[in-house]
Amino acid sequence: MFDIHSHIIYHIDDGSRDIEESVKLIEDAVSQGATDIIATPHYYIESPTDPVRIREKLSEIRAAVMAAGIDVRLYEGNEVLYFDSMTERLKTGEILTLAGSRYVLIEFYPLESYSTIRKCVRNVRNSGYRPVIAHAERFKGLRENGLREVISMGAYIQLSTEPLSRRGLGAILDGETKFIKDALKNREAHFLGTDMHRTGTRPPVLKDAVRWAEKHLDSGYASQILYDNAECILKDIEIER
Ligand SMILES: [Fe+2]
Repeated sequence: MFDIHSHIIYHIDDGSRDIEESVKLIEDAVSQGATDIIATPHYYIESPTDPVRIREKLSEIRAAVMAAGIDVRLYEGNEVLYFDSMTERLKTGEILTLAGSRYVLIEFYPLESYSTIRKCVRNVRNSGYRPVIAHAERFKGLRENGLREVISMGAYIQLSTEPLSRRGLGAILDGETKFIKDALKNREAHFLGTDMHRTGTRPPVLKDAVRWAEKHLDSGYASQILYDNAECILKDIEIER
């Protein structure tokens, strides 16, 4: 699986706390089938990340991972909490796009209005970038209005892997898990992401999600959300809709 959402860069946000934890997270993800991971530290208007620092740490992590004999490719990125002027910071390079492409990972406050989500998609598209909505299952505005309209406006959808590992009554009653499964069955998602943070809290959960996708989705679509669409990010080409 190609994981487009992770907090594996240490000491930069609420993710990994040191380089050892970064390596452990990556090792765990790879043992479950991760082949490629984009590092997406949180970017907030009031506490911006420094792209130079992200790249330096990512280089250190690549070296440590290689020394540990872990076979994986790592890429740079950010996860931006949406604000109107974010497109200016994309243009200056203060905010990192996904693997240097025109794709940008964006999140919202959980209760953000649907109109703001649509405005975001419009703004980002009009500025020449491709918005990828992070863990789309979390936003009330999308759960209430569905994904079809924002996709038609040019958004791409990332859903979380962890809820697909939930079992029993809890999973049946959980609205986010149902939303994820329905969106996947309706082919309304483009990517899966672990959003891994730390080894203790929010560790990577891939294996069960990959298994679920392979069991419940046709093989062509499963391949798109697990690998092929993310390859379009690396090539910086539009994903077929
Ligand atoms: Fe995240």
